[in-house]
Amino acid sequence: MQYARLGHSGLIVSRLAFGAGSLGVGETLPGLRKNLGQAQADRLVARAIDAGITLFDTSDAYVGGQSELLLGHALGKKRTDIVLTSKCGLRVGTAPTEAGLSRRHILEAVEASLRRLGTDWIDVYHLHSIDPLTPLGETMRACEALIASGKIRYLAVSNWPAWMAATLLGLQKQHGCSPIVAMQLYYSLVGRDIETELVPFAQAAGLGMLVWSPLAGGFLTGKYTRADPNPAGARRSTFAQPPVDLERGYDVIDAMVEIAAARGCTPGHVAIGWLLAKPFVTSIIFGISREEQLDDNLKSADMCLTDDEVATLDALTMQPTRYPDWLLRMVPDPRTRSLLGLS
Ligand SMILES: NC(=O)c1ccc[n+]([C@@H]2O[C@H](COP(=O)([O-])OP(=O)(O)OC[C@H]3O[C@@H](n4cnc5c(N)ncnc54)[C@H](OP(=O)(O)O)[C@@H]3O)[C@@H](O)[C@H]2O)c1
Repeated sequence: MQYARLGHSGLIVSRLAFGAGSLGVGETLPGLRKNLGQAQADRLVARAIDAGITLFDTSDAYVGGQSELLLGHALGKKRTDIVLTSKCGLRVGTAPTEAGLSRRHILEAVEASLRRLGTDWIDVYHLHSIDPLTPLGETMRACEALIASGKIRYLAVSNWPAWMAATLLGLQKQHGCSPIVAMQLYYSLVGRDIETELVPFAQAAGLGMLVWSPLAGGFLTGKYTRADPNPAGARRSTFAQPPVDLERGYDVIDAMVEIAAARGCTPGHVAIGWLLAKPFVTSIIFGISREEQLDDNLKSADMCLTDDEVATLDALTMQPTRYPDWLLRMVPDPRTRSLLGLS
């Protein structure tokens, strides 16, 4: 298992992380069914810890709170040895106050998460989405109070645009509050949107990067093919998230199958290996639907793709360059470049 510092914080986390959004039983969104109960959660969490995973990710919104309950129970005394993340902000009840990033909701949400998780503190607390109705200053002060009380140790944002995360960071600095330490974002071989704004921002600001859906919800394991685009029992056959451009996606799978065959591994291992090769990616939060998938995914912990393999996959999955990036390629201008001996 590889380990890394979470951004500029002093927190050390494993580079493979256990996505506890998998834990729970029942249909959570139309077409998205979870089938892992407490007995399975106990075995999975124990195996993940044995394999060196120290980062466990959950949210108050996963499977109606079951994810936190099952994870907390499965961790038991081992909780002290691991880094636990959770989130708030998505709707968790029908009352008007049971969503968003108001002071009222954040303070209530943390208490509810701590109760379900059976712990006194959450290591990294994510603001799960943005809340355009609550002033950033209100959200910032509520989080600062939680850090001061020790109920949360570090703050992070998830699914935020770069400009808004930068605004929050600026406010935190201005008011002497604890800065966010990481962003949790979707990133995979078939979803590289974050490279335009969010990655350069994270690097400039020293933020850690936790990536979710590294297998694009299972697409990158190679089980979806042109011949069988909706295999029975596979999650994306009924819940096709995150979105994938299928025509390009199958070409990517073809290349991954070739690399995997030469290495004697699977396309899923290649997908995780590609992420491990990205220096700005701190940890990769994978999910599972069946117990055996954990052992399979753990095999990618030490994947080390060659520069050529990474370059092949990079070229194949590159996204079109958008404005202003194509224009900014000319900065610094050629004269400045030659004066400074830059390539
Ligand atoms: N911050 C956010 O907004 C956000 C959003 C989503 C997720 N997350 C976090 O990220 C975690 C992972 O998300 P995800 O579940 O979408 O990730 P993922 O790793 O991209 O997809 C997991 C799915 O892929 C399939 N799979 C996994 N391993 C496999 C294997 N070895 N062989 C074949 N199929 C395999 C399984 O589905 P099937 O077997 O059914 O095909 C599994 O449910 C979540 O648990 C959560 O902690 C965060």
